[in-house]
Amino acid sequence: MYSTDLRTDTEKKAQAVTASEDAALWEAFQKRIDAGDIIEAKDAMPEKYRATLVRQISQHAHSEIVGMLPEGNWVTRAPSLKRKLILLAKIQDEAGHGLYLYSAAETLGRSRDDMVADLLSGKAKFSTIFTYPTPTWADIGTVGWLVDGAAIVNQIPLCRCSYGPYARAMVRVCKEESFHQRQGYEIVTTMARGAPEQKAMAQESLNRMWWPSLMMFGPSDAASLHSSQNMKWNIKRHSNDVLRQRFIDATVPQAEILGLTIPDPDLVWNKEREAYDFGEINWDEFWAVLKDGGQCGKSRLRARRAAHDNGTWVREAAGAYAKKHKTRVGKAA
Ligand code: 3HC
Repeated sequence: MYSTDLRTDTEKKAQAVTASEDAALWEAFQKRIDAGDIIEAKDAMPEKYRATLVRQISQHAHSEIVGMLPEGNWVTRAPSLKRKLILLAKIQDEAGHGLYLYSAAETLGRSRDDMVADLLSGKAKFSTIFTYPTPTWADIGTVGWLVDGAAIVNQIPLCRCSYGPYARAMVRVCKEESFHQRQGYEIVTTMARGAPEQKAMAQESLNRMWWPSLMMFGPSDAASLHSSQNMKWNIKRHSNDVLRQRFIDATVPQAEILGLTIPDPDLVWNKEREAYDFGEINWDEFWAVLKDGGQCGKSRLRARRAAHDNGTWVREAAGAYAKKHKTRVGKAA
């Protein structure tokens, strides 16, 4: 419906020709990347760079949008009006993140309608973390603390990604994620310092959410398909394992402050590495969730499809208004 692809038709045609991936284009492009240049929407770029960005940014946008669902589940049951307002604001932020990201991906020539169609048909991926259920209020705390915490660790380096529109979108996203992480940690703190039943609920949530949060960083470096090329292009600045380790090292002391136990018997501080050693991630579970959507993947998509259908009239009304506005402006000119 709307597009932020900034290129004119002539520019698109010219780039389709240069996108024949000739060696000269690749070499010149890599030189720009190695020099730390920021690539903008109208710049020539190898089609593979464009395609991998559309893939990553659109998956990221879908994750933000689908990520609203497990939290939306708790809006009517938040324990106080204040909690409800904060949760609503957070969910609204996630919608905004989805919109910035779809807009950033559109600058690469893929329409938002197409990307959304891929999500709704089940073709496109979204983060595995959102296929896990949020059955207790403590999960809203844990989602903020761990899931938004992991998102920050993963996304701060993306503020320096080589593609300008994505990098700029990430600056605001990260600031807002930082607020989300704190609100989640504050909920868990309240519960961990509350009645024994509240603390038990926080611990139970941590037990369920810990390992799926580690999986958010993607497969191990050895199994990652895209990492090495993406790092060469400065899309990713660090590998999946490096960021996962960074998250663990930052989060374990936070759990200790709360008196909660990370559900990993192999977790131990390694003095030589100055980092935590940790247990084996269940990669079979990760790949199975990616393949079949895990516990809630299908219901999340059903909810998104229903929301999309229910919003048809809004899109139609906005389209009609835009058309009317254009005609009025045309007449006035
Ligand atoms: N969930 C779903 N798919 C995942 C995944 C996960 N946790 N981790 C990896 N994958 C997918 C990849 O997308 C890729 O699939 P594809 O080839 O079909 O596209 C495949 O598994 C192989 O993984 P790679 O490591 O080779 O893939 P990448 O190099 O793209 O790295 C990534 C994966 C680390 C997720 C990277 O794409 C990335 O940093 N993306 C940006 C951040 C993002 O999307 N975050 C979503 C988190 S949710 C969020 O931010 C919402 C907030 O409110 C909490």
